[in-house]
Amino acid sequence: MSRIVLGIESSCDETGVGLVRLADDGTVELLADEVASSVEQHARFGGVVPEVASRAHLEAMVPTAERAFAKAGLTLSDVDAIAVTAGPGLAGALLVGVAAAKAYAAALDVPLYGVNHLAGHIAVDTLQHGPLPKPCLALLVSGGHSQLLRVDDVASGIVELGSTVDDAAGEAYDKVARLLGLPYPGGPPIDKAAADGNPEAIAFPRGMTGPRDAKFDFSFSGLKTAVARWVEGARRRGEEIPVADVAASFQEAVADVLTAKAVRAATESGIGTLVISGGVAANSRLSALAAQRCAEAGIELRVPRPRLCTDNGAMIAALGAHVVAAGRKPSGLDISANPALPVDTIVV
Ligand code: KG4
Ligand code: ZN
Repeated sequence: MSRIVLGIESSCDETGVGLVRLADDGTVELLADEVASSVEQHARFGGVVPEVASRAHLEAMVPTAERAFAKAGLTLSDVDAIAVTAGPGLAGALLVGVAAAKAYAAALDVPLYGVNHLAGHIAVDTLQHGPLPKPCLALLVSGGHSQLLRVDDVASGIVELGSTVDDAAGEAYDKVARLLGLPYPGGPPIDKAAADGNPEAIAFPRGMTGPRDAKFDFSFSGLKTAVARWVEGARRRGEEIPVADVAASFQEAVADVLTAKAVRAATESGIGTLVISGGVAANSRLSALAAQRCAEAGIELRVPRPRLCTDNGAMIAALGAHVVAAGRKPSGLDISANPALPVDTIVV
C-alpha cells in the first residue's frame, strides 16, 4: 500500500509544503509543492531578516498547507507520515515549521520525522530523476550553503568532504550584485548581465585553489573583496563600470572553482554521479561548465529543475519518504529545531 508523506520547510525565507506518494517499490512521486516566499520583504535590506522571515512563516504556513492539499486532491486524513526541517537554518524560522508539524502529527496521530534541510536538497532530485546511485556526490550551493558531500544513502549516510570557510556561493552573488547596483537576490540579475559580458575580461582570484589549501573547501570572500576593489578603482578613475564584464568574470570564477572541486572529488573518490542543488544550481554558467567538465571526466550530472533546487516543501517530503522507506525510527513530538544541525544527522 502506498503512503502519503507531508513535508514542511521553513528554514529561511520560503514557507514550503509538499506532498509525495511513496510506492511499495520505494519510488517517490511528487503530488504537490506549494511555496510562499518572503523574499520581497527582505529585498530592501539586501539579505534575509530573521524576525521578518519568522513572522511571514507564521502567516503563510496554514494557507500554504491548504493550497498543497487542494493541489494534490488530498485531505489531512490521507497523510501517513510528516517530515519537517529540523535544521540547519534560522532558529525562529525553523521553530514555526517544527511547531506546525508537531501540531499536524499530534492531531492526525501519525509519525513525525525532524529531518536535515541539506539532505532534503539532495533527496529532491529523486522526484525528477529517480533513485540516486549509491554512492553519489552532491554539490549544494545556495544563499546559505556551499558544500561538497559524499552521499552513501540519502536517508542514512552523508559525509561532508568540504564546505565554505566564509561566504556561501549565493551570498557572494548577492553581495557582488549589490556592489554593481543590481537587485536582491543577486544571482538571477548577475546571470543575466553576464550573458553579454566577457568572462575573461578580468582575472578574478580562484579562492582556496593553492597547493596548501584544503582540497574540497571553498572561499568566496576574497573574490567578493577583489570585485569590490576593482569596482572602486574604476570609479575612482572616473570610468564607467562595465557591469556585464564584471558579472561574467565574477561568475566564471565561481563556476570554475565549484565545478573543478566537485569533479576532482568525484574522480578521486571513484564516484560516477554528481548532483548539483540549491538556488545557485540555477546558474547558467555553473550548469554549462559542470556539464562540460563532467562529460570530459565520464561523470553523470544531475541537476534538478530550478523550482526544485530552491527551498521548498517537496524536498522535505521526498527526504521524509526515503527515511520512511528505510524504516528509520520517527523523531517523536519532543524534538526541537537545531539551527546548527550537522549534515550527517539526517533524522533528529
Ligand atoms: O536555495 P535558495 O533559494 O535559498 C537558500 O537556501 O539560500 O538559494 C538562494 C540563492 C541566492 O543567493 C540567489 O542569489 C542564488 O541562490 N541564485 C542564483 C541564481 N538564482 C538564484 N545564483 C546564481 N545564478 C542564478 N541564476
Ligand atoms: Zn536551502
